[in-house]
Amino acid sequence: MNKRSAVKTMVVALGLALSSAGHAWNEAGGEKQEAMALKPNLENGRDVFEVCSACHLPEGWGTEDGTFPQLAGQHRSVLIKQLADIRARNRDNPTMYPFALKESIGDEQALADVTAYIAKLPMNPDWGKGPWAADTPEYERGKQLFHDNCVKCHGPEGMGDEEKFFPRINGQHYKYMLRQFEWIRDGKRRNANPDMIAQIKNFSDADMKQVINYVSHIPVPKDQLAPSKDWKNPDFK
Ligand code: HEC
Ligand code: HEC
Repeated sequence: MNKRSAVKTMVVALGLALSSAGHAWNEAGGEKQEAMALKPNLENGRDVFEVCSACHLPEGWGTEDGTFPQLAGQHRSVLIKQLADIRARNRDNPTMYPFALKESIGDEQALADVTAYIAKLPMNPDWGKGPWAADTPEYERGKQLFHDNCVKCHGPEGMGDEEKFFPRINGQHYKYMLRQFEWIRDGKRRNANPDMIAQIKNFSDADMKQVINYVSHIPVPKDQLAPSKDWKNPDFK
């Protein structure tokens, strides 16, 4: 290799190192954009979801202990972005990674299909809540923190924003949200939104628990919930 091409190689390698070291939040292009533009096939979506149901459950409800998030009710844009980020190793998820690969479930079309399927599932009426009920000082403090720090992106009811890829956070399990919030604050979730990181960087652990406790107690509109916590997804009977 001559000197010039050696330098060129180094510059390219450095560029790659820099681009993967930063917080890539929502770059345009890639699988995400392709999957959003495709027409979904719900039947294939159901077949793909069979893999997912091993962890997220056939209802897409995840688990109260926070190991697996509830997927039902989440905006389709957010589901696609998170899946594309996990596949691109832009969000670490060692448990799920092998099951999310192209070789396991298929290409962009599979992302379009499975997320359209998930988007039709009703939510768990009995999701995991934090320890402090309304009228306790911790609940009230969390409410204040929420209004001062979260509403501008996640909305006053925690509904997020489909267009902007802001996740819905009402109805999500308390323990899952605590882990994500801590990872976002501490820079462990690499695809996190840089403006959210800036907003919460001074949150103590107590602030974090109180604000997430409040979020977990926000009611979810009844028409988005399954009729009971014993509801089973009829597609998987
Ligand atoms: C082996 C278990 C497992 C399987 C199978 C699995 N997941 Fe996951 N998934 C997880 C875990 C664990 C997390 C949360 C990781 C974390 O805490 O960051 C997760 C997170 C997610 C998220 C991010 C949710 C959010 O709120 O940001 C999406 C979307 C998702 N999974 C979709 C799927 C889909 C679609 C499939 C099937 C193709 C699937 N998962 C299969 C374990 C699994
Ligand atoms: C500047 C906008 C913004 C602000 C302010 C913000 N967030 Fe976020 N939040 C986001 C975005 C965007 C994501 C998703 C990041 C990604 O794409 O991976 C997110 C992710 C989350 C998640 C993880 C959701 C999941 O399904 O994994 C939780 C929990 C959360 N935010 C809670 C909060 C709380 C509580 C506050 C206020 C203390 C807050 N956020 C403030 C934009 C924001």
